[in-house]
Amino acid sequence: MTHFADCARSIRTTIIENEWIAKDTRRIRFLAPEMAASVVPGQFFMIRNPAGNDPLIGRALALYNRSPAPQPISSQSPAPPVDHDRSPPAAAGWIDLVYLVKGKLTSSLAKLRPGSDIAVWGPLGNGFPAAPVDHLVMVAGGIGQTPFLTLAQEALGNAKFGDAGNRPMGYTPQVSLCYGARSQEYLAGLEDFERAGVELHIATEDGSRGIHGRVTLPLEQLLQNEQRSGKSVRVVCCGPEPMMEAVAELAARYAVPCQVSLETPMACGIGICFTCVAKVGTTADWDYKRTCVEGPVFDAAEILWH
Ligand SMILES: Cc1cc2nc3c(=O)[nH]c(=O)nc-3n(C[C@H](O)[C@H](O)[C@H](O)COP(=O)(O)OP(=O)(O)OC[C@H]3O[C@@H](n4cnc5c(N)ncnc54)[C@H](O)[C@@H]3O)c2cc1C
Ligand code: FES
Repeated sequence: MTHFADCARSIRTTIIENEWIAKDTRRIRFLAPEMAASVVPGQFFMIRNPAGNDPLIGRALALYNRSPAPQPISSQSPAPPVDHDRSPPAAAGWIDLVYLVKGKLTSSLAKLRPGSDIAVWGPLGNGFPAAPVDHLVMVAGGIGQTPFLTLAQEALGNAKFGDAGNRPMGYTPQVSLCYGARSQEYLAGLEDFERAGVELHIATEDGSRGIHGRVTLPLEQLLQNEQRSGKSVRVVCCGPEPMMEAVAELAARYAVPCQVSLETPMACGIGICFTCVAKVGTTADWDYKRTCVEGPVFDAAEILWH
């Protein structure tokens, strides 16, 4: 069994692309052949801009996508030279992250151009379990869709993850994404999910696309339908904490297993500082667990939200 940080490495590498894909949202692609070969859905990377010291500590960003068919590590060729005047051609062994530009690190990342360096440490964290089910329902709020593209690719059998080869693929015939955002301009990567074969159920708070309201509305419709059909369902969820709590309650009401990917702020990323803890257990018997080491993915039924 692979454990936290078994495959982690610290690299300084080259940015290939850094594009706007939605309002305040960019997708950054960098060369990282060994990371692309070993990462599994739900893991994350600690990212720094090596050109400055503010912020000094890295920020966690989840794996969004990686090159479709990474070469075996032994046969990888060195990274191609970078043309600083334009984006380099498509290269094997890249990683994509998607980030909302909001604070110090993400604002400085947004200014980096193809050919610049980025400091990356990972892959870190436990990732999602690869559990067979009739219908995998992914629920995202805001930028919380990022860990789900590769999970859908794996679950639908489009891609295999993890170079240890011990993760199954193609364990789910149907994958849906219930995706909630403030308005349609914040919806990022819809075409990537459609291309992967994911059924989209959109909800926006201003009604500019999909259902007018919260993402729990399409989720409850799906859970009701599947309760009638008798299909087995698993819910995975990532987004703002109140939304994850509401999704966890809905899943419990419909007796459906649910995992949440927590986005607690992190400092060290290696289990030392306890900045990232969440209360995990039962009200009678709980403990602090570190999101960076024991998470970020936890069984929703075990999270004490308050
Ligand atoms: C496992 C994991 C995966 C994640 N994956 C992603 C992902 O894929 N994409 C993504 O976009 N994010 C992701 N995040 C969240 C991301 O790590 C944080 O949002 C990170 O803080 C952003 O870094 P930053 O330096 O840009 O923002 P920070 O500077 O750290 O700011 C974070 C928040 O604090 C506020 N803030 C900053 N300074 C102050 C201040 N002085 N007073 C008041 N408020 C302040 C900012 O406005 C912002 O809302 C993930 C987090 C975790 C733990
Ligand atoms: S970030 Fe330091 S223990 Fe998790």
